[in-house]
Amino acid sequence: MCGITGYTGKSDAVARLLSGLRALEYRGYDSAGVAVMDAQGAVHVVKTKGRLRALEERLEKCPVHGRCGIGHTRWATHGAPSDVNAHPHGTDRLYVVHNGIIENDRELRAELSARGYNFLSETDTEAAACTIDSAYAETGDPVAALCAAAKRLRGSYALGVIFLDHPNEIYAVREGNPLIVAEGGDGCMIASDIPAVLRFARDCYVMEDGEIACVREDGAEFFDCQGKPISKRAAAIEWNMEAAERGGFAHFMLKEIHEEPLVARQTLGRYVKDGLPDLRGAFDNGCERLTIVACGTAMHAGLVGKWLIERIARVPVEVCIASEFRYNEPVLSPNHCVIAISQSGETADTLAAVRLAKSLGVRTVGVVNVPGSSVAREVDQALITCAGPEISVASTKAYAVQLLMMYLTAVQLGLGRGTLSMERARQIVSGLMALPAAMEEVIREDAQIRRMAACLDETENCFFIGRGLDYPGAMEGSLKLKEITYIHSEAYAAGELKHGAISLITRGMPVVALSTQAALKEKMLSNMREVASRGARVLLLATPETKELASDADETFVLPATDELLTPATAAVAMQLLAYYAAVRRGCDVDKPRNLAKSVTVE
Ligand code: F6R
Repeated sequence: MCGITGYTGKSDAVARLLSGLRALEYRGYDSAGVAVMDAQGAVHVVKTKGRLRALEERLEKCPVHGRCGIGHTRWATHGAPSDVNAHPHGTDRLYVVHNGIIENDRELRAELSARGYNFLSETDTEAAACTIDSAYAETGDPVAALCAAAKRLRGSYALGVIFLDHPNEIYAVREGNPLIVAEGGDGCMIASDIPAVLRFARDCYVMEDGEIACVREDGAEFFDCQGKPISKRAAAIEWNMEAAERGGFAHFMLKEIHEEPLVARQTLGRYVKDGLPDLRGAFDNGCERLTIVACGTAMHAGLVGKWLIERIARVPVEVCIASEFRYNEPVLSPNHCVIAISQSGETADTLAAVRLAKSLGVRTVGVVNVPGSSVAREVDQALITCAGPEISVASTKAYAVQLLMMYLTAVQLGLGRGTLSMERARQIVSGLMALPAAMEEVIREDAQIRRMAACLDETENCFFIGRGLDYPGAMEGSLKLKEITYIHSEAYAAGELKHGAISLITRGMPVVALSTQAALKEKMLSNMREVASRGARVLLLATPETKELASDADETFVLPATDELLTPATAAVAMQLLAYYAAVRRGCDVDKPRNLAKSVTVE
C-alpha cells in the first residue's frame, strides 16, 4: 500500500524523502512523487508513474532543493497508475500525500466542483486535498482546517500536508492508516512505517486515529480532533538498521528466509521460560472457545494453530478470514477469546475484526510483529513476535514465528486445561527449541530444493496437497508460490482432490505433495498415485519417517527429523525456498510481486 514520508530540518529534503521512500518500497507501489518547498517558499512537485528510479531520473534532470517536503509511493486504488494520478496532489495553498481510501470522494468532488474546484486527477486524494483547502480558506489555520476536513472525509486515511504559507512545517492526520512522527538530530520526519526513519531516529511517536501533528525542524506538537493540544510520549524503536537492509542477499525474501532460525530463537527466548510457554498471562482467564482472525499467510498460521489447539488443548477453534468476520455476524460468547494474527498489525480487515470483537465484549489477544502497530495497541493483550522488519512482500520469517506462537498457545492452553501432561508439554517445547537448528538444516540443503524448483519452469498450473497438519501447510506453500511466480496454484486436502479438481491434472503438471505425518502416509501414497497415474509430476516433501514414498515421486526433499507435530515449521522453510527459486528462475520481481502490497491498509 502507499507509503508516506515527510521531512523538515537542516538537511536536503529530497535525499531524506527518497531514502525514506526507498525503505517503504516493500509496501508495494506503482508511482512515486515528492513536493519540496524551496527557500523562497515555492513548492516544486516532481512525480511519475513507475519505480523510484524513474522519480530519481526526473529529479536528476530537474533538481529541486529545499529543507522541507513530503514524499509518496502510490498503490493505485482510484485511477490507474499514471504521472497525473501520482501524489502529491495540491491546490494553490497546499499539497497532500495520502495513504488509504476516501470513500465519499464522489460526493466531495461533486460538491467541490460546484464550488469552483477543478480536478486534474482521478484520485480520491485530490478530493481530500480540496476538502482541506476549502476548510483552510475559511479558517486560515492548518490544525483547524484538518479538524474540519476530518469531519467531512469518510474512509481511512493517513495524510501528510504542507501549506504554502506555513513554510518548513508538515502537518499530518490519521484515521485508520498508520503514521509515525520521528525526531532526529537535524530535523523531524513523518512516515507510514518505521523502516523509513530507522537511519534517522531511535524513537518515534505513533499517531492515533483522529490525532493531528504539526511537525517542525525542532520537534512536533500534537492535537486531538477538536484541535486541542495533547501530549504524547515517544516510544523506543526496537529494530536496527541491518535488519532492514539486504545484507548481501540477492533479495529480501531470501535474506528473511535465512533469518528464520535467528528470529525463531529470539521469539522462543521471549516466550519460553524454564522449558515451558510463558505467554504473559494472555490465556490465564480461561477460554472455552477461540476464534482466530487473520488474512493470507497469517490466516494459514491460524489454521495450523487450530489443528494444534484443538488436538492439544481440546478447545474448539474457528479460523475466520478477517475480511469475512464482521460481515458474518459472528457468534461470540463471554468465555470466547479472539486471537488476531498479523505481521504488520495494520491490516485493515484484521483491525476491523479486533474492533468488532472488542465491541462485543470479547477478550482479544494479538500475535503481532510490529510493536506499536494498531492491532498491537488495540488488543487487550499483544504478544509481539520477534521477526524484526519484514520487507519482502511475501511473508516468510513472520509466518515462522507466528507458527511458534501457535505451538506455545496450544501447549499453554493444554497445560491450563489439563489436557496435556507436563512431560509431553516439556517434550514439545524442547522440540521447539531444536527447531531453529532444523530450519538451518533445510536452508543448508537448498540445492535439492533448487532442483525441485526447476520442475516448475514451464508450468502455468500446480497443486499442493496434504492431509491433516499438512493441509494448512500446503495452503501456505501454494500461496507463496502463486504470489511470487504467478503460477496458478491450488491447495487441496489430498483426499478431496478426487471429488472434482483432479479433472484439472494434465500430463507434466507439478503436484507438490506434503507427507510429514507417518499415520497418514499410506493415504498420501494413494493420493500421489492417483495424480501420477494421470500424468502429474509429484514433488514430495517427506520426513525420515515417510521418505519411502519417494519411490512414487519424481523429486523428493526429506525434512530433518523433528517431533512430527513440528513439521509445518520446517516444511514452510522448504516451500518458501521452492517458491523463491522458482520465481528467480522465471525472472520475477521476487520482493515486489505485481499487484501486491505488503501492508494492506484498505478493506
Ligand atoms: C503473503 C502475505 C499476505 C499477508 C496478509 C496479512 O505472503 O504476506 O498474505 O500475510 O496480507 O498481512 P499481516 O500479517 O500484515 O496482517
